Amino acid sequence: MNIKQVILQAFRDQPGSFISGEELSQTCGCSRTAVWKHIEELRRDGYEVEAVRKSGYRLLVAPDRLSAAEIMAGLETNRIGQNVIAYDEVVSTQPLAHEAAAKGAVEGTIVLAELQTGGKGRLGRPWHSPKGTGIWMSLIIRPSIPLPKTPQMTLLTAVAVAKTIREETGLPVKIKWPNDIFIGDKKVCGILTELNAESDRVNYLVIGIGLNANSLESDFPSELAQIVTSLRIESGESLKRVTFIQRLCRIFEEEYDHYLRAGFERVKQEWENHSYTIGKWVTLQTISQQLEGRAVGLDEEGVLMVEDQAGQIHKVYSADVNY
Ligand code: BTN
Repeated sequence: MNIKQVILQAFRDQPGSFISGEELSQTCGCSRTAVWKHIEELRRDGYEVEAVRKSGYRLLVAPDRLSAAEIMAGLETNRIGQNVIAYDEVVSTQPLAHEAAAKGAVEGTIVLAELQTGGKGRLGRPWHSPKGTGIWMSLIIRPSIPLPKTPQMTLLTAVAVAKTIREETGLPVKIKWPNDIFIGDKKVCGILTELNAESDRVNYLVIGIGLNANSLESDFPSELAQIVTSLRIESGESLKRVTFIQRLCRIFEEEYDHYLRAGFERVKQEWENHSYTIGKWVTLQTISQQLEGRAVGLDEEGVLMVEDQAGQIHKVYSADVNY
C-alpha cells in the first residue's frame, strides 16, 4: 500500500472520527508535513477531507471514482483485485488487460476505465460504455485447467456478478445463457471472455465485464433503450461502484477458489438457480445449424442441453440465442 492508501485505510478503520496528524504520521511512517501533502493529493482526487486544528483530519465524502486506491482500500480478497490498473479513458480495457497479462501481470489483476471509446461486445458487436456511469473492467486469471473447460469460467463469472447484484441491490437478477445478466427482460450486464493459450495449455484468460450501473434511460442510444437497463433504473438508487467492485472481487474469489478445489458442480447449480434460459423455448444459431427446442439444463461440463420437438437432446457449446 502507498501512503494515500494507508491514510484511506486509517479513515475506514475509524469511520466518521478525527485522526490526528501525529497518529497518521506514525501509521504512515512519514512526517506530518508529508501527511498533509498526501491529504491535499486526496482532495485533488475528489475526497472531501475536513481538517480541524487540534482534532486532526476526517474523511467526509469519498468520490465515486474508480481509482486503484479506492478499490484496494477495504478489499477483502487474497488475489482478485489486489492489483488494479485504472484509466480515465481507453479504447477498450480488453487489449490493455492482454498487454498487462503478456507482461506478467499477476492473477486477479483488474484493468478498468471510466470511459471506453471502442468497447467490445461478443460476436464483434460494440459495447456502449459512456463516462462514469458503468463498470467497464477486465479481469486477468490464470487457472490451471484444460482448454475445453475454459467456458466454465464465463459461467462462474456470470454467477459471481448475479450474486453480487442480488446482495448489493436485492434486484431479481437472471442469467441468460451463456453470459448475459438480465433484470426482467432487459440486459444489465455482459461478459466477454478471451483466452490466451498454447496448444492445450491455458496461459491466461481476460474476462471483460460491462455493467450498466448508474446509467439513466437518456444515456442509452435509442436502438438500445428497449433492450437494456441499469441497476439505477431498476432500483431507483445510485450504486456505489467501488463497493460493488470490492464485493464482486470477494464473491468471484470465493467461487473461483471453490471451483479450483472442488470442481464445477457448485457453479452449475448456482447458474441453473439463476437461469433465465432453463425451461424456455429457444432458437439457437450455431456455426453449423439452426436449432429449436427447450433448454433443459447444463451438463456436468457446463454445456447447454436443448431438447428438440422429437425429444432428442442436443449439446450446445456456443451459439447466438433467441427466445
Ligand atoms: C457482451 O457482448 O455482452 C459482452 C460485453 C462485454 C463488455 C466489457 S466492458 C469491459 C470490457 N472491455 C470491453 O471492451 N469489453 C468488455
